[in-house]
Amino acid sequence: MIIAVDGPAASGKGTIAKALARHYGLPHLDTGLLYRAVGVSVMRAGGDPADAADALRGCNFEAALLEDPALKTESAGRAASLASVHSQVREALLERQRVFAGQAGGAVLDGRDIGTVIAPEADAKLFVTARPEVRAQRRFREMESMGAGVGYDAVLADILARDERDMGRSAAPLCQAEDADLLDTSDLGIEAAVQRAVELVEARTAQRF
Ligand code: C5P
Repeated sequence: MIIAVDGPAASGKGTIAKALARHYGLPHLDTGLLYRAVGVSVMRAGGDPADAADALRGCNFEAALLEDPALKTESAGRAASLASVHSQVREALLERQRVFAGQAGGAVLDGRDIGTVIAPEADAKLFVTARPEVRAQRRFREMESMGAGVGYDAVLADILARDERDMGRSAAPLCQAEDADLLDTSDLGIEAAVQRAVELVEARTAQRF
């Protein structure tokens, strides 16, 4: 069974995808990490993630970079979002995501284009979202707990800029697949959101599995 979980930054899609993977005993891939690795790799090489050639060079990152805590920072997220606009970058990362999705037994993948481009054949697709202010509040609290001295307004501005870039790009823009179920987590706690996600997957797959 393949489960595709897409949605904007801080919507809760990562938490939900991990919980679904645990629930169904499936391997999980956070595809955002691949784009973050490209962004960090470009920045460390002194390049510009907005430049297509620099960004493409960044796709040859070492596998160990995927474990680097630097990938979790806001600057890595921003660099990832800039690099991910380039179709050559998306093309370079496509095969490993497709192979992960196609492994025997299935998988859970989360990202922006899983249900639309990477695994359009997925058995269940969730589009996880939340109001921008709620997402910014979550991200702000998370950063505060890590001791990052960033204000709420700056976090909200970053979230809005990323939404616009991810939804507005021509290469695999963030959008809800036609056959995806919408899950708005704005007014849900983690447990309730995960429960709802399981219900939606069950409803989609009940006849098949
Ligand atoms: O999900 P995360 O915030 O880690 O993703 C970082 C950035 O990587 C996103 O803002 C998006 O631009 C890009 N991304 C993408 N396609 C994916 C996953 C992430 O374009 N499947």
